Amino acid sequence: MVALQVNDLKITARQGRNLLSVCLENGIYIPHLCFFEEDRHPTASCRLCFVEIQGAPVAACTVTISPGLQVWTDTPAVRRLQRSALRLLLSAHDIDCKHCHANRACELQNIARFLKMGLKPDPLAHIARPVEVDARHPCIDHYPHRCVLCGKCVRICRDQHGQPALSFAGRGIDTVIRHYALGGHTRQTCQDCRRCIEACPVGALKLRQPA
Ligand code: FES
Repeated sequence: MVALQVNDLKITARQGRNLLSVCLENGIYIPHLCFFEEDRHPTASCRLCFVEIQGAPVAACTVTISPGLQVWTDTPAVRRLQRSALRLLLSAHDIDCKHCHANRACELQNIARFLKMGLKPDPLAHIARPVEVDARHPCIDHYPHRCVLCGKCVRICRDQHGQPALSFAGRGIDTVIRHYALGGHTRQTCQDCRRCIEACPVGALKLRQPA
C-alpha cells in the first residue's frame, strides 16, 4: 500500500491501482462516463474525469497509483475542462428526457447536475444524429441520437464474449455504434447477458419487448 493525497484527504491504496476507482471508493466523486471498474484498457474517450496532478490536467481513469501522488479534483481549471467536455457531449445528444427510458437514471443528467449545468448549454451548435431506432439486432434496440459513444458496451461485450456483437462504425461526427450480426454468439446469449445495456450510461440501448 502507498499513501497519496486527494484534495485535503490522505488515503492509502495499492500501488498500480486506477486513480479514478480509488477516488470513487473513498467517496471522492469525479464525473466519468467511459470508465468501468474491470476495464483493463481505459480509452479516456469522454474526457470528463479530469483532475490536476502537479498543476497539469490529466484524465483520472488513465492514472495508476504511485507513492506520494498529489491530486486535486475540484480546482477551477478542472471544472472548466469538465464543463467543456460535457458541453461537447451534449452538443451531439438529443435532449428529450421526457421520452427516454433512462430518464432520471441517466448519467448525463447526474453529471450536468453535479457540474451545475443545464442540459442545453450555449454556445455550441447542435449536431443532429439519426433519430431512427436501429433495430438490426434481434433483441436489442439502439438509439443513436442518445448514444454518447463512450464505447463501454463494445468493450464489455468484447471482454465478456471475445468477439463483440457491437462495434464503432463510420468516422468523425458520423461515428455510431452498430450491431454486426451477433459476433458469433447466439440471440439467447445477448438476451441472457445484457451487460451492454446495463453498462450504457444513457438510454442508447434497450432490450426489445416481445411483440
Ligand atoms: Fe476518464 Fe471518460 S472516464 S475520460
